[in-house]
Amino acid sequence: MDKLIIRGGEPLLGTVHISGAKNAALPCMAAALLTDEPVILENIPQVRDIQTTRNLLAAMGAEVELGYGRAHHRTTIHCKNLASPEASYELVKTMRASTLVLGPLVARCGRARVSLPGGCAIGSRPIDLHIKGLEQLGAKITQDHGYVEATADRLKGAEIVFDKITVTGTEDLLMAATLAEGETILQNAAREPEVADLAALLNKMGAKIEGAGTATIRIKGVSKLKGAKHRVIPDRIEAGTFLIAGAMTGGDLNIAGCDPAHLGAILGKLKEVGVKTKSTADSVRVMGDNPFIAADMSTEEYPGFPTDMQAQFMALATQAEGASVITENIFENRFMHAQELVRMGANIKIEGRRAVVRGKTPLSAAAVLASDLRASASLVLAALVADGETIIDRVYHIDRGYENIEEKLRAVGAQIKRIGEMFPKKAAPARA
Ligand code: UD1
Repeated sequence: MDKLIIRGGEPLLGTVHISGAKNAALPCMAAALLTDEPVILENIPQVRDIQTTRNLLAAMGAEVELGYGRAHHRTTIHCKNLASPEASYELVKTMRASTLVLGPLVARCGRARVSLPGGCAIGSRPIDLHIKGLEQLGAKITQDHGYVEATADRLKGAEIVFDKITVTGTEDLLMAATLAEGETILQNAAREPEVADLAALLNKMGAKIEGAGTATIRIKGVSKLKGAKHRVIPDRIEAGTFLIAGAMTGGDLNIAGCDPAHLGAILGKLKEVGVKTKSTADSVRVMGDNPFIAADMSTEEYPGFPTDMQAQFMALATQAEGASVITENIFENRFMHAQELVRMGANIKIEGRRAVVRGKTPLSAAAVLASDLRASASLVLAALVADGETIIDRVYHIDRGYENIEEKLRAVGAQIKRIGEMFPKKAAPARA
C-alpha cells in the first residue's frame, strides 16, 4: 500500500490546474448506459473511482475507450449491447456511487441487478430513496442475497418528492426518467452543480429536462436517446482543497481552470476566516499571508458548505485563533480525521455531530492513517504545515478522488513523495 511522505513548512507558490469533477464524471459515465450510440466525455479525471466505473461498464458489455497522450482525459463509452445489466458486490463495495447504474439500466434494459452498498466509513448511507423513487416510476423491486433487482417493461413518469436531499439519488432518478413514458417531476431534488452538469449531457443526448440545478426538475420522457459529446465541469472540491492548502502554507497560489461560481460557500467561509482570495471567471488566487480567525461552519446541501470540504476546513481551523464549531449535518460519522489531527497536535473535541476546534496549535509530524477520501486530504493539509516529516498511510483513499495530488503539490513547492510497499496488500474496501 502506498504512503505519502510530506515535510511541512514550504509555502505553496505558483499555479495549480484543476481536474474535471469526479462527482460529475461518474453520473455522466453512467448516462452512457441510456443509449446504444457512443458518448464522448472530456475532462475526465484520471482517478481510481473513474477506473472502477470503466470496469463496471465494461463488465456489462460496454466498449470503453480511453484517449491517449494529450487526449488522455477523454473517454468514449459505447453501450451498444448490454449483455449483463448487473453491478457486482466486488465493484460496488469499493465505490458506493456504482448504484448510479441502477436507474439507467432498468430504463434502458428493463432489468437491473445491483449489489447493495452496505455500511461505509462515514455513515450508513442507504439507497432507500433511489429504490422508492424507481418504484414510483413503476419498477418492481426485489431484494435478495445482498442485491437489489429492478424490473419494468417501460417506466412511467411520476411526481417524486424526496424525503431527504440526495445527490446520487437525484441523478439516478433523473437518468431513469429520461426514458420513461410521460412527465416526471422531481421535488426536493439536489441542486449540486454536478446534477446540472449531468442534465446538460442528457439534454445533448436528446432528453427533455428543465430545472436541473434547482429543487424542482421536470423531465419529459422520450423513447430513445442518442450519442453526444460533453466536457465535465471542474472539480470544486479539488479547487477548495488547494485553496486551503495555499492559505494554510502562507503561500500565493493561483487555482486555475476552476469555476468560482461553484465555490461560493467555500470562498465566503474563507473570507470569514481571514483568507484573502481574488477570483476571475475561471480562477481564484489565494494569498495566505495574514493570521486566521476561528469561524463556525455547518455542512449543508448545495449551495451550502459541502460536507466533502469539512475535513479540509477542520485542518484550517487548527491554524485559526479561537474556537471554531464545526457541525456535520450530512453524514453521521464523518469526523474520523479529527483523531489523526489530534495526534499531530490539534485541539479538537467531538460531541455527536459537532467538533470544537481550538487554535491556533502548532502541528508536528506523525505517522497517520487516512480513513476516507476527504479525510486523507485534511491530513495532507495538516502535514504541509507540520514540523517534520509526516507519513500518511492508506493513500489509496486519496487516489480515489484526487488526480496526481503529489505531482500537483510538488510543482508548487511542497516537499512530498510517494513510497510503495515492497509486498503490496490488496486494498481494503474504501468508500466516501
Ligand atoms: C454524493 C457525493 C459525495 C458527497 C455527498 C453529499 C457523488 C458520487 N458522491 O454522495 O461525495 O459527500 O453526495 O454531498 O456524487 N440518504 C438516504 N437514503 C438514500 C440516499 C441518501 O438516507 O437513498 C442519506 C445519506 O445517508 C446521507 C444523505 O442522504 O445522510 C445525503 O447523501 P447523498 O446526497 O445521497 O450522498 P451520495 O449521493 O451518496
